[in-house]
Amino acid sequence: MDRDREIAQHYAHGTLEAAILGALAASGEDPDKLTVADLAPVDEFHIGGRQATMDLAAQLDLPRGARVLDVGCGLGGPSRYFAQDRGWRVDGIDLTPEYVEVAERLSRRVGLGEAVSYRQASALALPFANRTFDGAYMLHVGMNIADKKTAFAEVHRVLKPGGTFAIYDVMRESDGAFAYPVPWSSAPETNFIATAELYRQELRAAGFGIEKERSRRDFALEFFTRMRQRMAASGPPALGLQIVMGATAPQKVANMIGMLERGLFAPTEIIARAM
Ligand SMILES: C[S@@+](CC[C@H](N)C(=O)[O-])C[C@H]1O[C@@H](n2cnc3c(N)ncnc32)[C@H](O)[C@@H]1O
Repeated sequence: MDRDREIAQHYAHGTLEAAILGALAASGEDPDKLTVADLAPVDEFHIGGRQATMDLAAQLDLPRGARVLDVGCGLGGPSRYFAQDRGWRVDGIDLTPEYVEVAERLSRRVGLGEAVSYRQASALALPFANRTFDGAYMLHVGMNIADKKTAFAEVHRVLKPGGTFAIYDVMRESDGAFAYPVPWSSAPETNFIATAELYRQELRAAGFGIEKERSRRDFALEFFTRMRQRMAASGPPALGLQIVMGATAPQKVANMIGMLERGLFAPTEIIARAM
């Protein structure tokens, strides 16, 4: 099986939309009257959820109406948030066909069908003309991308000169044995976690200047402490990322928290600008 298919298979669920709508109904929401906020517990597939997206967004000063690319958009949570809250027009691409379909359907449900659009595509071959976008972002996707140089060159190609590229990925901080599965990978063949230094090198090689970098290690540790406290008090919520991650969700999350606590990696932001 080729690598892209293996990655898409890791993420594929089969009946994801029905599972999400069922969980929304079970937690008291009317699936026909959903808001962007109602979906946040399940459609922000990265450490720290909506809060992490908001924290990254606070550093981006793109105006309303800006055209923005979401690289590896998943179920579309960040794109819907940016469309609604910031007034951006977001195009998302993702490798996993089911995620692209669910992203489209959820966006229509919350009335954002015109403001966001999604396509199945690889970050290594973006289906857009040169200089299309004012900005781009990528949340927890680079860990699946072996050839970061090509991915960053593609983002650079489709950005207008001066365009911002915001990354929030899990980045390697020290050596040590890796425990599988994790939320983004079931085996070493699809795990390409890298250091922030490598990201900076590849970004510069692709024509970006680095503006900011911030480890979100403490934020992540606090996030998981609060999550564990909530789970101990009232069990897993009906609506959460365990729906997306499937039966192995507890193991994926436990492995990830263990390696975060041991200092193997941390979620990290890098803000770059196309030169
Ligand atoms: C952990 S999820 C994050 C999804 C979304 N960015 C979010 O934060 O909610 C990783 C996503 O990256 C996508 N992905 C992995 N490799 C990709 C590639 N080469 N091109 C496009 N999407 C990719 C996967 O299909 C998956 O949807």
